[in-house]
Amino acid sequence: MLPPMTTSTFDAMWQALLPVGRDVTSGGYRRFAWTEPDLTAREWFAGEAEARGLTLVVDRNGNQWAWSGDPDRDGPGVVVGSHLDSVPDGGAFDGPLGVVSAFAALDLLRERGVAFDRPLAVANFTDEEGARFGVACAGSRLLTGVLDPDRARGLRDGDGNTMAGAMRAAGQDVTHLGADRETLGRIGTFVELHVEQGPGLVDLGRPVGVAGRIWPHGRWRLDFHGEANHAGTTRLSDRKDPMLALARAVLAARSQAEQYDALATIGRLRVEPGGTNAVPSLVQAWLDARGPDEAVVRAVVDGVGRESGATPVEESWTPAVDLDGGLRERLATLLDGAPVLPTGAGHDAGILAAAGIPAAMLFVRNPTGVSHSPAEHAERDDCLAGVAALATVLEELGR
Ligand code: GLV
Ligand code: MN
Ligand code: MN
Repeated sequence: MLPPMTTSTFDAMWQALLPVGRDVTSGGYRRFAWTEPDLTAREWFAGEAEARGLTLVVDRNGNQWAWSGDPDRDGPGVVVGSHLDSVPDGGAFDGPLGVVSAFAALDLLRERGVAFDRPLAVANFTDEEGARFGVACAGSRLLTGVLDPDRARGLRDGDGNTMAGAMRAAGQDVTHLGADRETLGRIGTFVELHVEQGPGLVDLGRPVGVAGRIWPHGRWRLDFHGEANHAGTTRLSDRKDPMLALARAVLAARSQAEQYDALATIGRLRVEPGGTNAVPSLVQAWLDARGPDEAVVRAVVDGVGRESGATPVEESWTPAVDLDGGLRERLATLLDGAPVLPTGAGHDAGILAAAGIPAAMLFVRNPTGVSHSPAEHAERDDCLAGVAALATVLEELGR
């Protein structure tokens, strides 16, 4: 049981974020990086930092940090947090649960009068989902130097706006994007709490788990070229219809994934000119592929390319990440033998771990097992159990 004060600050934070970027028709969230809802969520973060007397730092790549203590003098510190942006029509929990729980865990420890030797921070990583500009975990990739700043500046959204333009419009200086040793040097350990994106904890009957391995994964663009023409006057034999190749790609993604025991998804398309009564001139599709090891993922992507006739263009790649084994076991023991679960989802914790920063993740049970959808859910009691677990972890790591 959490003390009533922590429970009420958790509830108040959750209620404040609930309407931000919510689509009234679908009930899902559209908090894309540097758009109005994202900026509102970032203002909310700044307000929560200020309300607690934390020092707000926005790093060169737009990630937000709310520090208690001085990481430059007494660091490196312990950082907890996640992200506030969403996929198109995402759920309420993917990202925000980690940020809200981080502030609530800090509140709980303060309420208990726990003193720390190390500085602590809550983080909000920018553009984790890559829903607008295509590259997931853009904030942490830039920070760790695995996303080239020139490439990032030039990434475009569906309306042709560049990431640089979007960031500038939001008041962010984009001249110094990229690897940031100073910010990285402040992070001694990072712990990201996240809603589980599958049914693992439901099956185990446990409210909280610890992340083990993150599958390698990536995103590829497939371009299918054709010839625009009239849907009513062009004989089938005269058509150059790229939609047929797309159909082969979709089926290949499924069959290749089945063959290799992997996952492959085509979830985003762009069709030119996009008329119901016109044969398309161009179809672009984005393939997301994940698997237990890199060779398998590469084989799936090659297979989709081969069967559809497209050359997959890699837009991002995340190698397999084994989250720090010692830290993981320490947290699992601390949390009464919490189960360790692998995941196919990508996270900023994985990007930091790949850069050599000790990182861990806690998962909170999701009764629907569904994520990246409005159906994503976590019961309030399980969320509060997550806050308690995160506080326990912070207390252990912050001393
Ligand atoms: C992030 O949510 C991802 O795994 O795509
Ligand atoms: Mn996500
Ligand atoms: Mn997430």
